[in-house]
Amino acid sequence: RKRVAVLISGRGSNMAALIEAARAADYPAEIVLVISNIPGAGGLATAEANGIAAVTVDQKPFGRDREAFERAVQAHLVEHRIDIVCLAGFMRILTPWLVGQWEWRMINIHPSLLPAYKGLDTHARAIADGVTKHGATVHFVTAELDAGDVILQGEVDVVPGDTPETLAARVLKVEHEIYPQALRMIATEYKLI
Ligand code: GAR
Repeated sequence: RKRVAVLISGRGSNMAALIEAARAADYPAEIVLVISNIPGAGGLATAEANGIAAVTVDQKPFGRDREAFERAVQAHLVEHRIDIVCLAGFMRILTPWLVGQWEWRMINIHPSLLPAYKGLDTHARAIADGVTKHGATVHFVTAELDAGDVILQGEVDVVPGDTPETLAARVLKVEHEIYPQALRMIATEYKLI
């Protein structure tokens, strides 16, 4: 089983979906580490309750030195002999340095049908544009934001009267389905380079 770290900044519902999926005996990955860049992120307690090592690498003390923050993150990933990194609501743009350490081994979930709506406020922008299809994407992480190769997408309808909140909730359900599927694919397919 591949050893997986999940990086979070908040409640960690996608992290919880990955933990749940990895309970299955035939799942090819195990979640062994959760890292938050935000102290007290809700997902940390969930990870601990599941017996998973949960650490905070607070970005504040590092100020503008992004690589110093990332070296601290990388030290935890190395210490835990991580094979694959999953970003799950990790609200921080990574430098090419850290991304380069994890080429084809770092994946992210984004709440839109990429390449549409990269960046933030995806649901509000989709509603404002009047699109009828929206969704979520799991993709490989590259140095360019929300631009790496797509692994899986899940689609939902945008319905009349949707608010960013109702649409986000519909998309989130799909996220919880496709992220475990995508990790399964990656953990099965990829060979240690
Ligand atoms: C999810 O909707 C995820 O797609 C999004 O943040 C939410 C985190 O929720 N990620 C991004 O917007 C990345 N730019 P969670 O903490 O409950 O998984």
